[in-house]
Amino acid sequence: MGSMGKLWLLPLVLLSALSLLSAAANKTCLVHMNHNSKPHIHATHRDWYQSLTSTSDCILYTYNAAFHGFAAYLDPEEADSLGNIDAVLNVFESRMNSLKTTRTPEFLCIDSNFGLGDGRQFQEIEQAAHNVIIGVIDSGVWPESRSFDDTGLPEIPKRWKGKCVSAKNFNPKLCNKKLIGARYFLIEHEKEFPGAEVLSPRDYSGHGTHTASTAAASPVANVSMFGRYARGTARGMAACGSKGCGDADTLAAMDRAILDGVDVISMSFGNDSVAIPYHENTAALGAFNAMKRGIVVSCAGGNSGPIRTIIGNVAPWILAVGAGSIDRDFRAYILLGNKHLYRGMSIYDGPRMGKKLVGLVYHRGKNSSSKYCLEGTLEPDLVRGKVVICDVGDLGSVEKGLIVSKAGGVGMIIVNEIALKELSVGLDLVPTVAVGTKVGDLIKKYEKTDPKPKVLLGFGRTEVNVQPSPMVAEFSCRGPNPVTPQILKPDIISPGVNILAAWPDAVSPSNLEIDKRTTKFNLLSGTSMACPHASGIAALIKAAHPSWSPSAIKSAMMTTAYNLDNTLSPIRDVVTGKPANPWDYGSGHKDPTKALSPGLVYDISKEDYTKFLCSLRYPHDIIEVFMSHLKLNISCSNKFSDLGDLNYPSFSVLFKNKTSIHYSRELTNVGPVNSMYEVTVTAPSTVQVSVKPAKMVFKKVGEKQRYTVTFKNKKNKKAAVGAAFGWIVWSNAQYKVSSPVAFTWT
Ligand SMILES: *[C@@H]1O[C@H](CO)[C@@H](O)[C@H](O)[C@H]1NC(C)=O
Ligand SMILES: *[C@@H]1O[C@H](CO)[C@@H](O)[C@H](O)[C@H]1NC(C)=O
Ligand SMILES: *[C@@H]1O[C@H](CO)[C@@H](O)[C@H](O)[C@H]1NC(C)=O
Ligand SMILES: *[C@@H]1O[C@H](CO)[C@@H](O)[C@H](O)[C@H]1NC(C)=O
Ligand SMILES: *[C@@H]1O[C@H](CO)[C@@H](O)[C@H](O)[C@H]1NC(C)=O
Ligand SMILES: *[C@@H]1O[C@H](CO)[C@@H](O)[C@H](O)[C@H]1NC(C)=O
Repeated sequence: MGSMGKLWLLPLVLLSALSLLSAAANKTCLVHMNHNSKPHIHATHRDWYQSLTSTSDCILYTYNAAFHGFAAYLDPEEADSLGNIDAVLNVFESRMNSLKTTRTPEFLCIDSNFGLGDGRQFQEIEQAAHNVIIGVIDSGVWPESRSFDDTGLPEIPKRWKGKCVSAKNFNPKLCNKKLIGARYFLIEHEKEFPGAEVLSPRDYSGHGTHTASTAAASPVANVSMFGRYARGTARGMAACGSKGCGDADTLAAMDRAILDGVDVISMSFGNDSVAIPYHENTAALGAFNAMKRGIVVSCAGGNSGPIRTIIGNVAPWILAVGAGSIDRDFRAYILLGNKHLYRGMSIYDGPRMGKKLVGLVYHRGKNSSSKYCLEGTLEPDLVRGKVVICDVGDLGSVEKGLIVSKAGGVGMIIVNEIALKELSVGLDLVPTVAVGTKVGDLIKKYEKTDPKPKVLLGFGRTEVNVQPSPMVAEFSCRGPNPVTPQILKPDIISPGVNILAAWPDAVSPSNLEIDKRTTKFNLLSGTSMACPHASGIAALIKAAHPSWSPSAIKSAMMTTAYNLDNTLSPIRDVVTGKPANPWDYGSGHKDPTKALSPGLVYDISKEDYTKFLCSLRYPHDIIEVFMSHLKLNISCSNKFSDLGDLNYPSFSVLFKNKTSIHYSRELTNVGPVNSMYEVTVTAPSTVQVSVKPAKMVFKKVGEKQRYTVTFKNKKNKKAAVGAAFGWIVWSNAQYKVSSPVAFTWT
């Protein structure tokens, strides 16, 4: 491997130089090995890896499926020298990833109001979906939840090789025909944060129970959100502890999931704070190996929105999911002393305020932070007996509620920073209503101008069919793709705002120690919640079409996604109230029914992905990193001249200084025989798009046909900045196969 080893070790060399200043601390490192180089004297790969390290107990994991190599707790010097060994392809430091829930978790007492959803149309496929296994890598699972009830379920699929492990507070007998496996991978977490986590698949944070029950829950009477989405069979895996999910632990969970025989991997975490190249991104590496074995990997895109270009899990073989709102609202009302009535949102479920108006106060204390209602900023003399207006900030609404109540306040109005209305509702230890900036400004103005401002907070019921919805959530990750801008990301959006799902008995709904409440279900927001919805749909498609590749399943979800809301207007961005674009929602909002029969798919073979990797201008050794298990001679003789030429179901066209860009795509017929499709192009006036041919007839099922598309830049050089969007749609009376196109000039 020669010179490359040194180049990739540079960060570690720097690290060891630094460590002269601070005491040399051991770090969890991932050592990527050339799987085929094992000398015969070593019986197993593990023996070989141990022979390479000075102390055998520094090896945390050895990997065989998601990755080839091992994780070890090493001092920087040793990591450095490992890199000089020929069979070592790469050594890099393990990173921490965070769970993608936004703000404080929220709470709702179950209301029978939701009624039974429209799950029935899926019944047949749902039956088959019980044979599809979803591996949920997260903070573990609460097996006693009713959402994992297995009444009436068929036997566990024979091919399943996994198991439920015995661990602290976890009896393997708790697993059943719905929750068929449970393991934990917390060696790295324990090494880095000793004692921080109970070493068990049991979920002590709630996140994993919530995501697993969203991806694959049994229908629970009166909690129909579950009824609307796919089933599948869950297996919960704890690879995330209170300090996050370490790369080494995550990779171990992926490794095991692949070997155990899951069909879908659902990962609601990531690290979007750095644009990590694919060969040092464990999710990308693990997902690549999963994809090669036919496993769909669905991941949260991250919660750094609305800032652009901060999005994680962007490898083209991963489904990156953003979050949209759902058509359900938790109404509440604000009546001011001037008789003006405003609508807000709340899920407050405690004692009501009575019928008398009380005083209203905003930002009156000496401390300028009092507008955020931070600890020590509210003066009891100004707040006592009143409803306090608090601007949203870093502090969660539960903590604010406590501060308000400690200072003698009797209620709270949370004013969000975004225009329309805040979609994540607040959690309430005191009566609380959340409003957007527009309403918030009106209420603040009233508070400022009225000599004796008064208010009453009222709490309504859950309303369904709220318009417009969905909208792109404020926090949802936004493109463009920071690693490969030629691939449009996120891929789709799914429900991720105020999602109701199972919750552990041992964890309070707010996750705070002071909160002593318990709940069977909890309301959370985040791309963490959107990801398992998408994983569930992927499982459903897999059940309907067991032979489809992960890329075909992804394509089905993307090309059938919709981009009109329930008022038939373009899906909006909740931040601006204006139409969102493919950088916000990718191909659109997933449509579970249509995704089952997409008509045509953009399939991507393993060879295409190899060609993509060869085209990344990664050095040859790095390509080997992805291929290390194959006894192949990777010549990389086949390359894309442009990465955007990958057979992806969406387009991202970078003009930069180019005047014309030419791509070709291949469609596979998965619909009826003798299907005819015609293309419709929507493009900004600044681009000329031509597609050839404009009409295609597929005589057989499985038939493949290619088309080419040319994008001509019509902007003159000086004006060549910014972005615009369009669509390429292949359709007939029955099917619509849509691909968004993002155009970028700078
Ligand atoms: C640090 O790692 C080295 C091997 O690289 C090992 O010999 C040493 O015992 C480790 N130290 C600790 C504190 O784990
Ligand atoms: C993401 O990775 C970077 C670099 O390793 C690290 O500094 C950061 O803390 C990680 N973020 C999270 C949320 O774990
Ligand atoms: C569901 O709700 C209905 C109506 O509120 C109630 O009668 C029934 O007992 C509930 N079922 C369960 C299982 O909670
Ligand atoms: C205002 O309150 C904050 C938060 O408690 C505190 O950090 C800060 O020092 C206070 N500022 C003043 C001027 O008292
Ligand atoms: C791999 O390909 C290179 C160049 O294409 C060739 O020189 C080499 O002998 C091949 N190695 C094997 C093992 O086939
Ligand atoms: C486009 O820009 C790249 C570098 O940004 C440069 O190498 C190339 O020559 C330019 N091409 C044209 C046609 O101007």
